[in-house]
Amino acid sequence: MMSDYNWFEGIPFPAIGYKKETLEDCNKFLVKEEDLFILSYPKSGTNWLVETVCLIQTKGDPKWIQSVPNWDRSPWLESKAGHARLINMEGPRLMTSHLPIHLFPKSFFSSKAKVIYIIRNPRDVLVSGYFFWSETKLVKNPDSLETYFEWFLKGNVIYGSWFEHIRGWLSMRKWDNFLVLYYEDMKKDTKGTIKKICDFLGKRLEADELDMVFKYSSFQAMKENNMSNFSLIKDNAVANGLKLLRKGITGDWKNHFTVSQAEIFDKLFQEKMAGFPPKMFPWE
Ligand code: A3P
Repeated sequence: MMSDYNWFEGIPFPAIGYKKETLEDCNKFLVKEEDLFILSYPKSGTNWLVETVCLIQTKGDPKWIQSVPNWDRSPWLESKAGHARLINMEGPRLMTSHLPIHLFPKSFFSSKAKVIYIIRNPRDVLVSGYFFWSETKLVKNPDSLETYFEWFLKGNVIYGSWFEHIRGWLSMRKWDNFLVLYYEDMKKDTKGTIKKICDFLGKRLEADELDMVFKYSSFQAMKENNMSNFSLIKDNAVANGLKLLRKGITGDWKNHFTVSQAEIFDKLFQEKMAGFPPKMFPWE
């Protein structure tokens, strides 16, 4: 499986389903005050957050998540199909994006629309991405984790550099309409994170509704839900079988990095994220 990317402004986008014109249009996309965006660097728990937000919107009722694929519940702003769907969508829109801040709709920055940005330990993002993207024809496929490790450090992977993505978006962290979440916190205290999202969205859930959100957004429930696990993507042009729900744990990088890779990563992380307090990132 060897594909390259769709390059736009120096950033590699998926080889299929994305095009220059749509990416150009994203900058001009008209954001409405009541819009809600789920944002992330790929493989950070984006779809888990989508599931959680969808369930909060239905007060834990699973009908919606069990009957509509996640990419239709929260279309991708920068994909050809998602973008086309969104521009014609009425009412409060829920949408997903991995765009770096400089390619995001300009109109967002003067609106009251809300963003939830989820961050995950980049070491786990790297491992998750390696296993996921290697199954697809959407990207340039590495021959080994070692190769992918090199690419990731240089930002030569889909959506570019993790470090730049995070630095860019974290500049918004003090805005009232911008909520930063961490995959690690969501794992450690899932119900606490659901409540935090509810507070941010101005929603109130009864205890039994919260339990339903928790139940139906669990790793196992999502793994079994064909509307959420990507099993509907049967198109051979895209992948030979995609598994979104792989392990769903924190710290899997320890099973894959060598001691030397771990040291190289630590050093680079410190250099690239200098200026942010270490306690800002809730992983070891
Ligand atoms: P792993 O590959 O480490 O298992 P994204 O949605 O941004 O592509 O992120 C995918 C990652 O989130 C995968 O990580 C996937 O297993 C994990 N994930 C998805 N749903 C989850 C859930 N309900 N609980 C925990 N992790 C989940």
